[in-house]
Amino acid sequence: EDDPRIDGIQSRIRVVPNFPKPGIMFQDITTVLLDPKAFKDTIDLFVERYKSKNITVVAGIEARGFIFGPPIALAIGAKFVPLRKPKKLPGKVIREEYDLEYGSDCLEMHVGAVESEERALVVDDLIATGGTLCAAMNLLERAGAEVVECACVIEIPDLKGRDRLNGKPLFVLVESR
Ligand code: PRP
Repeated sequence: EDDPRIDGIQSRIRVVPNFPKPGIMFQDITTVLLDPKAFKDTIDLFVERYKSKNITVVAGIEARGFIFGPPIALAIGAKFVPLRKPKKLPGKVIREEYDLEYGSDCLEMHVGAVESEERALVVDDLIATGGTLCAAMNLLERAGAEVVECACVIEIPDLKGRDRLNGKPLFVLVESR
């Protein structure tokens, strides 16, 4: 991507070695949020891409998909649906378990939040192994929605998470350093 805004965003991502475990280079997006221009550029780049794609639902993945997903949803006129870690949602849920870069986890979505034939965008801060996005897409497809694309701020290309998305398009702003 040669948009001049990309370098500014990349420069604000803080890389923290050995967090939360030895060997992990943690990609910290909280430092992007501290720079209003970099944060706005991040949202704008997604909005420009998705505003004319008839997206009806933006699904954000806990926790950092809850930071980037809602402003995108508001700007493109879509609803926002949180995909949450287990036992957080009070209503009836469907759930998907998945393997993580470090450990295993599960995502839940409220039954009735998404209707069949809806056009969904899945948003998170980062794709590592791709397990989380895969689980998110499964939830939406089980509800009958069409996943149009997944969107992340950062990709860790070495982990080949893109190959686990069953051919679904993935759009990212930057690759990890
Ligand atoms: C991180 C990141 C993604 C996921 C990506 O979340 O925010 O959600 O890992 O990993 P994957 O592509 O290997 O599945 P984390 O596990 O740190 O959970 P948190 O957002 O609740 O802190």
